[in-house]
Amino acid sequence: MKKIVIFVVSLLILRGCLGEAPDEYLLQTYSLPSDLNFMPTLGNGHLGYTVYGDAIFMNGVYNGAGGNSKRARIPNWLNITAQICDRFGCTTEEDVAVNGTSYEMNLRDGYYRSLTTFRSLGITLEQRTYPHKFYNRALVYEVVASRLTNRKARVNSPQYLKLTQHPGSSSDAFQFVVINNGSASGGDYRVLRGQTEVLEFEKFQPNHHEIFVIFSESLEQPLQLEWPTWQDQLTHRIVISMDRQQSVAQKELQDVLQLSVKSLFLKHTESWNQFWDTEFSIQLRGDDVLELSQIVNAGIFYLASSLPSLETNQENEPFFGLSPTGLGRGNLEADYQGHNFWDTEIWMLPVVTQFGYEYGKQVLDYRTRKLEAAKYHAYASGYKGARFPWESAYTGTEVTNPCCPEVARYEIHISPDISFALQKFFAQSADFDWTCDKAWPIAAEVAEFLVSRTACEELKEVCHFLGVMGPDEDHPDVDDNVYTNAVAKIALDFAVWAGQMCGNSSTELFEKWTKVSNRLVILRNEELDYHPQHLGYVPNTTVKQADTILLGFPLNFDTSSTHLNDLKMYANVTRESGPAMTWSMFAANYLHTAEYSRAHEYFERGYKSYVRPEFKVWSETPVGYEGSANFLTGIGGFLQALIFGYGGLDFVRNGNRTTMVMSGSMTPPNVNEVEVNFIRYGMNKCQWIFRNKYSGMNCGKSLQSFEMVQGGKRTLLGTSFNFSVSREDPPKYIQILR
Ligand SMILES: *[C@@H]1O[C@H](CO)[C@@H](O)[C@H](O)[C@H]1NC(C)=O
Ligand SMILES: *[C@@H]1O[C@H](CO)[C@@H](O)[C@H](O)[C@H]1NC(C)=O
Ligand SMILES: *[C@@H]1O[C@H](CO)[C@@H](O)[C@H](O)[C@H]1NC(C)=O
Ligand SMILES: *[C@@H]1O[C@H](CO)[C@@H](O)[C@H](O)[C@H]1NC(C)=O
Ligand SMILES: *[C@@H]1O[C@H](CO)[C@@H](O)[C@H](O)[C@H]1NC(C)=O
Ligand SMILES: *[C@@H]1O[C@H](CO)[C@@H](O)[C@H](O)[C@H]1NC(C)=O
Ligand SMILES: *[C@@H]1O[C@H](CO)[C@@H](O)[C@H](O)[C@H]1NC(C)=O
Ligand SMILES: *[C@@H]1O[C@H](CO)[C@@H](O)[C@H](O)[C@H]1NC(C)=O
Repeated sequence: MKKIVIFVVSLLILRGCLGEAPDEYLLQTYSLPSDLNFMPTLGNGHLGYTVYGDAIFMNGVYNGAGGNSKRARIPNWLNITAQICDRFGCTTEEDVAVNGTSYEMNLRDGYYRSLTTFRSLGITLEQRTYPHKFYNRALVYEVVASRLTNRKARVNSPQYLKLTQHPGSSSDAFQFVVINNGSASGGDYRVLRGQTEVLEFEKFQPNHHEIFVIFSESLEQPLQLEWPTWQDQLTHRIVISMDRQQSVAQKELQDVLQLSVKSLFLKHTESWNQFWDTEFSIQLRGDDVLELSQIVNAGIFYLASSLPSLETNQENEPFFGLSPTGLGRGNLEADYQGHNFWDTEIWMLPVVTQFGYEYGKQVLDYRTRKLEAAKYHAYASGYKGARFPWESAYTGTEVTNPCCPEVARYEIHISPDISFALQKFFAQSADFDWTCDKAWPIAAEVAEFLVSRTACEELKEVCHFLGVMGPDEDHPDVDDNVYTNAVAKIALDFAVWAGQMCGNSSTELFEKWTKVSNRLVILRNEELDYHPQHLGYVPNTTVKQADTILLGFPLNFDTSSTHLNDLKMYANVTRESGPAMTWSMFAANYLHTAEYSRAHEYFERGYKSYVRPEFKVWSETPVGYEGSANFLTGIGGFLQALIFGYGGLDFVRNGNRTTMVMSGSMTPPNVNEVEVNFIRYGMNKCQWIFRNKYSGMNCGKSLQSFEMVQGGKRTLLGTSFNFSVSREDPPKYIQILR
């Protein structure tokens, strides 16, 4: 006989703690997406899974050698379904009325639930699932069955609930052994130990990953829960706890089971509410902005779900970065195997940093921890310094899928992309200590790599990058890709500055880096006044995605007429099937050039056909094309277009100081006002409101005050300021008052 713990919670109490979320945080549907890959992907930085999917993944746990390394699939033991039964049998789909099940993703409280009404039986069945945000080793499934009829009418009412697990096939990534079957005598749980099958790269991974999975209850056989007809409601929960250490998983489960169903759930929703209330949220105001608000909120939620919780029951393990489809995916060929790409630093990080500096730091810390591997990679491929691999997983060595060796070989821009991100983080945070401790060591090694990778012509005093590939992956093995050369210049200049600022005295190094930066060729076609994407680019040749246009936003490298012509040239020839962030970048760039109707058109194009309607999950490609689900990279581009494009905000390093640049703002179609809580600059945390030609920040309890600097003139601003700036006006430059 199984030991069954039944929690009886009154209907009122349970409803009370399920505070209804505002519509813009509640995604509800009566029919599931036809492709279940577009179900919500939930996570807490330690564990992640897609609702109804066949996999659970753990931060940093990969299986497979080199290019075959992918997130190691743990069967989805949390995929549990409840049925209502009597002695003749159980309910089936047919007992559910048409539209009798509501499927809901509550973004504000961070959980998924389905709510089914069996009208003929007078019963509702609610099933919830969530990865706990505070007890982040724990995954939770809860079921609440309620009788709606009065007691007299219950003679033939069902008498038990049957819970069945649908974890999918057994894992080919792990060998699991049962180390405890869980006995009926108290406090003894079913424990599995899993060991991954294949090392990624022995030099940097001497041991197989080992994980422990502990179940609050064994569901090896379907579980039958008695539900006497006199009892109005039956509540039950299953908790699965996982960690690399058995003691950590064990403690988590014990701590969780000390709490009532209600307290455990409240702790989770409070943790998410705290994120929205004190860390980051965007509110849109206007007529008919519900759908766009839901897309914005879902975007923030799905991104944040892959990030570590900052407050947890037990200390977190180091974070292994953000992959294009998040922590809850990475096993399918379409899911980028859970690897880190330039997507992390260029597309997602600029938004993640807005959630709070600590998130940005943890994402970048992954690169710090992989610096040794990047140095090895540079050395092994015949160069100096640190060469970050195009795809990076557990060890930080190159793990690009063997299908596509050219991206690994030619897309060297990943290394300077990381330096660009480091500089951007400094420009916003003005954190000098972090810059010297964390950014400078990476920037120095990247600079050394870049110098060793160039081909310089001493007589002509020019340097080239030969045999590279820019973001446009339709053109491998080209010379002097403009994006690569531009971002390399930025990386070299940042390294020189950081080295000097941090008191390094190797002047010969700085001179060498400066020389290469000054000599790197930036191709420009004089006649047509535009940047050819690479040497030999023929105008009107189709490109895969945004490449040269990135010289404007986000690189801020060239905003002259040449850049305006680039926008015109490349807009015409970019592939229809291009990834979402391509159009977001056209939007952001057209906002900077005040071409609003084009900007609006591209902004809408950048999300409308990429977001699946039910749960606002993004696809990599527009409807009708094969692509990855939960495409966080696309979300990153979209939110950047909103914040930095429409909002007109930017952060730049300017000598030894940082500047917040506020250009005239604009709002997307139908939106009158955008409120962002909060934007950080230096140590300040500001409420920011922008409208068409109005941008105001209020940094109430600031630790630092601001001044505005224009043409050498300084104006004191205090801790809040209000501007009316249109795009045609020069931008306002805000600095932290020293
Ligand atoms: C998970 O459960 C859902 C709903 O019960 C089911 O449709 C789906 O096929 C299950 N997934 C797997 C991998 O079995
Ligand atoms: C079920 O819902 C769909 C859309 O959500 C609606 O079009 C349809 O009329 C509903 N059917 C019933 C019987 O309520
Ligand atoms: C668990 O149960 C199985 C089947 O009953 C048995 O073969 C196995 O030895 C048990 N393992 C442990 C660790 O008790
Ligand atoms: C920046 O700081 C460094 C180190 O403190 C100093 O050597 C340099 O002169 C400063 N540069 C400027 C432009 O103030
Ligand atoms: C300066 O930085 C370079 C590159 O990282 C390093 O090799 C050198 O030891 C540093 N010199 C000093 C004096 O810190
Ligand atoms: C590119 O093609 C368009 C239309 O096909 C044409 O109008 C334009 O002149 C071409 N541009 C160049 C630079 O050849
Ligand atoms: C873009 O295409 C349009 C329509 O085909 C054409 O009129 C225009 O000249 C093209 N622009 C460039 C810069 O090639
Ligand atoms: C900006 O000015 C408006 C009135 O024009 C005022 O209502 C608002 O409080 C001000 N905001 C800040 C941040 O000072």
